[in-house]
Amino acid sequence: MTQVSYTRHGDVAVATVNNPPVNALSLGVRQGLMQAIEASRADSAVRALVIIGGGSTFVAGADINDFGKPYEEPSLYAIIDALMANPKPVIAAIHGSAFGGGLELALACHWRIASPDAQIGQPEVKLGLMPGGGGTQWWPRMAGPAVALEVTTSGNPVAARQAHEWGVIDRIAEGKLLEDALAMAQDVVSGALPARKLSESTDRIRDVDPALFDEFRKKNARKWKGQLAPWKIVDCIEAACRLSFDEGFRMEKDAFRECEHSYQSRSLIHLFFAERAAGKLPDVSAAPVPVASVAVVGAGTMGAGIAMSFANAGLSVTLLDSSDEALARGMKTITGNYATSVSRGSMPQARADAALACISATTDDSVLGDADLIVEAVFEDMEIKQSVFRRLDAVAKPGAILATNTSTLDVDAIASVTSRPESVLGLHFFSPANVMRLLEVVRGPRTSAATLATAMAVARKLRKIAVVSGNAYGFIGNRILAAYGREADFLLEEGATPWQIDRALTDFGFPMGLFAMRDMAGLDVIWRIRQQENTTRPAHLRYSPIADRICEMGRFGQKTGRGYYLYDGRTPIPDPEIESLIVGVSAELGIARREIPDAEILQRLLCAMANEGARILEEGVALRAGDIDIVYTNGYGFPATRGGPMWWAREAGLASIRDAVAAYHRQHGDYWTPSPLLARAAQAGGDWDVALAAN
Ligand code: NAI
Repeated sequence: MTQVSYTRHGDVAVATVNNPPVNALSLGVRQGLMQAIEASRADSAVRALVIIGGGSTFVAGADINDFGKPYEEPSLYAIIDALMANPKPVIAAIHGSAFGGGLELALACHWRIASPDAQIGQPEVKLGLMPGGGGTQWWPRMAGPAVALEVTTSGNPVAARQAHEWGVIDRIAEGKLLEDALAMAQDVVSGALPARKLSESTDRIRDVDPALFDEFRKKNARKWKGQLAPWKIVDCIEAACRLSFDEGFRMEKDAFRECEHSYQSRSLIHLFFAERAAGKLPDVSAAPVPVASVAVVGAGTMGAGIAMSFANAGLSVTLLDSSDEALARGMKTITGNYATSVSRGSMPQARADAALACISATTDDSVLGDADLIVEAVFEDMEIKQSVFRRLDAVAKPGAILATNTSTLDVDAIASVTSRPESVLGLHFFSPANVMRLLEVVRGPRTSAATLATAMAVARKLRKIAVVSGNAYGFIGNRILAAYGREADFLLEEGATPWQIDRALTDFGFPMGLFAMRDMAGLDVIWRIRQQENTTRPAHLRYSPIADRICEMGRFGQKTGRGYYLYDGRTPIPDPEIESLIVGVSAELGIARREIPDAEILQRLLCAMANEGARILEEGVALRAGDIDIVYTNGYGFPATRGGPMWWAREAGLASIRDAVAAYHRQHGDYWTPSPLLARAAQAGGDWDVALAAN
């Protein structure tokens, strides 16, 4: 079947796009549209053309698989030219969504009618791209430059009614979309709606204050650091207010090409596909078990956030703690968080009320028997967790899934105290759990396929990005954090300061440096864990005492007002006392301090991440390199425009990373033992997953 059908309704021709599921602008769709435009033009009995989508949507967008490839004709440009040169009016009839190139197809038409629940938008910026089919030129002409800037640099969808108010949609369909579109075509043909050429309209772009653009740039400068596309978008919209449509469009085409070939765009498109792949489990075919009611054990920082995540998805949640005081604290956190969301306007009152109504609190664990899924978030202590799981095993109904939110403990050791290890797994939420989208799903050696499939289905319901991890210390995220955190500690001993390392990381694009992050999370918990680990650490391995010394001074980070930094509120201030502590440690260890360039700091930290990531892949802890990138960009602040540590390494050239790791190994010893997978992937032309498949 052709991807565009062409029919006649009296003197109006209708081109219907049929390319399920989203009517993407494939080559076939473009060819079909071109033929429809030409056929309607050639037929003297046709007075207008309607373009409409078959199925559930208009043309939802370009085909992402085409990005970065040479354009096959007819390109979207050719179609836009044909529409603009068409003497017969063309009406776009929009239902479902019209995004990106799909919207630009509609914008190039003379008139637009939309279903009341349709959505339009220019989401390109989210993939490091920008509108490339005239979006930056149409929007300011229709809605004015201020709206154009907001819509195209945010990438957020716009409801049809809003777009109608702005003048981007001309009419909202009251009845059936096609019938209303045909009626609109008659109004155009009869002259009831005036003939118009939008590309020549200057009403909204005349006399624009040039300060508008500079202010917009200034306001967003921090947010757009390291990005290319939003800056280019502003330039093109500014140009639209100065230049003719054709000149502005030419400028947009050049800018689009530049974005299309930028590393930012390659990285963001990589993450788009990696996120889709992360939810797929190649070796699990079991069906998920339905989950309607959930219990959360432990109403602390994590438990409260986890309960909110479930309640926000409409699941009924029982929150349990061992004392009334702890429960009351947890519920206060929850009600406070909802009140803040409502007052900030990020959640309507009714939704907050509905979510809150889903949560009940108790200290009576016998009620847990009703839950389909129980998530434990008590103190990070194996004995306590095991005693909780013994109890859960006794009260939970058969088939209920028992999950632990542990960050560091062995999930199988927790499962082993139950009679149902197949129903036990880790669900490692990130803080704040109701906000962070990342969820590490930890598969123990005895976790069943059905348990895993259910966890993945629950994650989708919560709108989380679930990444499966093997049951290894630190799972994916914290294990890599330990590896590059250790390197950062060694860099301190060799001559760097916490503020220099943090600045190198924020210049790279992290929203916060490593040491500022440690201070925010609190230094004491990990200190206690370290003290336990130190009893088993092999003596030949290098160990930096700096973090321990800082804790011994009672400096536990932001919460004590002092950590690596001094704090004035939440603002970190470099502290000479910490610098002299570090200099003292270097002297004690006999390390001659030197000036370390930022580039070297970054190279060492990023190589440590990539080498550890390669080990994680080799050991089967992560299934794909993209999974590691998803964890790092969603849970650890790695800049998405750089694609994650494994993608960064690939873009930098794996052969050079392999050589750098080998050199660090010679210089710094065992922690740097090169991953054999890294060497193989370097040989396989830089593709981690090809090298992994050949394992
Ligand atoms: P927290 O100390 O804020 O909360 C723990 C809660 O568990 C307290 O309310 C306590 O009263 C309750 N509790 C202790 N024993 C209990 C028992 N036997 N029965 C019922 N309730 C009990 O701790 P937080 O930070 O919420 O951490 C909880 C778990 O989440 C830990 O395993 C931690 O490693 C993990 N985690 C923490 C993250 C964080 O950023 N804080 C991030 C990811 C995981």
